[in-house]
Amino acid sequence: MKLTTSRLVLDALRPSDAETLFSYRADPEVARFQGWRPATLHEAQEFIGAQVAVEPNTPDSWFQRAIRLRDGDALIGDLGLYFPADPDGSVEFGISLARPYQGQGYASEALRAVLAWSFGELGRQRVHASVDPRNHPSMSLLRALGMRQEAYYAKAFQLHGEWVDDVIFAILAREWHSTDA
Ligand SMILES: CC(C)(COP(=O)(O)OP(=O)(O)OC[C@H]1O[C@@H](n2cnc3c(N)ncnc32)[C@H](O)[C@@H]1OP(=O)(O)O)[C@@H](O)C(=O)NCCC(=O)NCCS
Repeated sequence: MKLTTSRLVLDALRPSDAETLFSYRADPEVARFQGWRPATLHEAQEFIGAQVAVEPNTPDSWFQRAIRLRDGDALIGDLGLYFPADPDGSVEFGISLARPYQGQGYASEALRAVLAWSFGELGRQRVHASVDPRNHPSMSLLRALGMRQEAYYAKAFQLHGEWVDDVIFAILAREWHSTDA
């Protein structure tokens, strides 16, 4: 799957992306609220290698896409979509941008394309995201996409040794189609 927006291309991660991916995913600020944080370049290489054979819409799988600038092809981040075992279940996403590329609307641009594809070509009914409420840029991003806060789970699980709250945002196909988000 390859999606193109006005400034971005979303396509497969390549073995040659490993160093860049490692540098931003291991950045403590980018990794602060994330479950996966590569400790070594090798872990980043394995992460990319594990994706080679994954097809979108495969039940019970994470499907990862690179986020690249159309102008110059630089890798600026990545996003993952989790397709649940139930083919009618809700699709979850997560996204990371390298620090120099945050605050410029790239995440919302990439995710708008992903939502349009999920509700359009894939015909999915519901997409959601899970966020730590202290992650203000992510909370703003999800609201800007027109997603609704559905749940707030206090001290829901342990992340890097601390109990963290978990907020669920979601959007339905009919909500997406009724906006020009
Ligand atoms: C979550 C994350 C991807 C959000 O990135 P972001 O850059 O804030 O989000 P966007 O790309 O949509 O940019 C929005 C910001 O760009 C600004 N902006 C600038 N140009 C813009 C444009 N052309 N269009 C839209 N927004 C624009 C907006 O005003 C907004 O700024 P503000 O937050 O100061 O109001 C980023 O903070 C990140 O990678 N964090 C670390 C990983 C993480 O925690 N991921 C969450 C897991 S779900």
